[in-house]
Amino acid sequence: MLLAQQILIYFSETHYSMLNVSKIREDFPILSTRVYGKPLIYLDNAATTQKPRCVVEAERDQYYTANANVHRGIHYLSQQATDMLEQARVRVQRFLNAPSEKEIIFTRGTTEAINLVAASFGQGLKPEDEIIVSEMEHHSDIVPWQMLQSSRGVKIRVIPLRDNGELDLQTYASLFNSKTRLVCCTHVSNVLGTVNPVSEMIAVAHSHGVPFLVDAAQSVPHFKVDVQQLDCDFLAFSGHKVYGPTGIGVLYGRSALLEQMPPWQGGGEMISSVSFDKTVFEGLPYKFEAGTPNYVGSHVLAVALDYVEQLGLDNIAAYEHQLTSYAEERLSAVPGLRIFGKPQGSRGSVVSFLVGDIHHLDMGTLLDRLGVAVRTGHHCAQPIMTHYGVEGMVRASFSFYNTEAEIDALAEGITRVSRMF
Ligand code: ALA
Repeated sequence: MLLAQQILIYFSETHYSMLNVSKIREDFPILSTRVYGKPLIYLDNAATTQKPRCVVEAERDQYYTANANVHRGIHYLSQQATDMLEQARVRVQRFLNAPSEKEIIFTRGTTEAINLVAASFGQGLKPEDEIIVSEMEHHSDIVPWQMLQSSRGVKIRVIPLRDNGELDLQTYASLFNSKTRLVCCTHVSNVLGTVNPVSEMIAVAHSHGVPFLVDAAQSVPHFKVDVQQLDCDFLAFSGHKVYGPTGIGVLYGRSALLEQMPPWQGGGEMISSVSFDKTVFEGLPYKFEAGTPNYVGSHVLAVALDYVEQLGLDNIAAYEHQLTSYAEERLSAVPGLRIFGKPQGSRGSVVSFLVGDIHHLDMGTLLDRLGVAVRTGHHCAQPIMTHYGVEGMVRASFSFYNTEAEIDALAEGITRVSRMF
């Protein structure tokens, strides 16, 4: 089938969407699963997304037809696997609009990408140097900096969260001083759905000569992210949240910074020569990729990126925006339900809530019995819980394969559970 024909099948004339969701759902066999005898309603997409058939098949096909270790072998299969890895790098470069594929480093995920920056960029920091992070960060963008605080004595300054779920940008601007070395901030909150104005925040950081790291784990799956447009210095995301496999992620880094940063792990693949007198490291990006890389994961991630770009990130963003607004409207009508955060502008595809004094775990467990999969707890963002004075929240998070009917089922499920208490 011609690509244009395939694309047309995905588009339909529904009232607000360019996406033919029922057709798309056929690409995701797991969505037909029944749990406890009920149709699965999967609303835990911020934790991980389900995989389209093409992604699962690409993984299987590579192991069946093109599996060999990369770089080391001159044999045919090794060359094929190497080419697939490097094509995947170029694919990610294009996806992020990065200036060079050398600025794309494969990692295990967002967490490892941030740890790479903390371990490597961190080696250039001195006691009393300062790093700015926000109160709404995921633990993966807090703990690596705290580890640096313990090992190197750097200080962490925190951009406060306002009750409406937005960052206090006035205070942010006042946190800079001559010791500020890096700003790290999430693009979209995995709890509140706030889409932070990172372009503006980056401009502020750059006016002080300070680089900026964007945690894009929750933005890249939902709308177009362009590192040159953002003008960020580092950006991290995870493959499994963007319909790709687990165990693969990406760090984009500006080459001028990456060139100056030392390797963070040593081993094979990242050296050009080794002797007991002197070891010479490889150039970018290999000096940051010690050991056998996840070459299958990289290739399959590229297939996942093809899939989302074929649907169109603008179409995905428009559809999910409508769906999330619908969810906010439906959930707000449930008696006693409190949604956390009311950011101005658009909300990412996430709604976190509590109903009266019903424990988040009780709500999540009972929704599960109704077939509705949500996440409960602190969502790896305990400072947000502390801010709102709660121990945990229930979170529904959406994808382009979710439907208004599923949101209705969520709202009805919550109402049913609430009546039990
Ligand atoms: N960071 C992922 C989430 O928010 C796991 O659920």
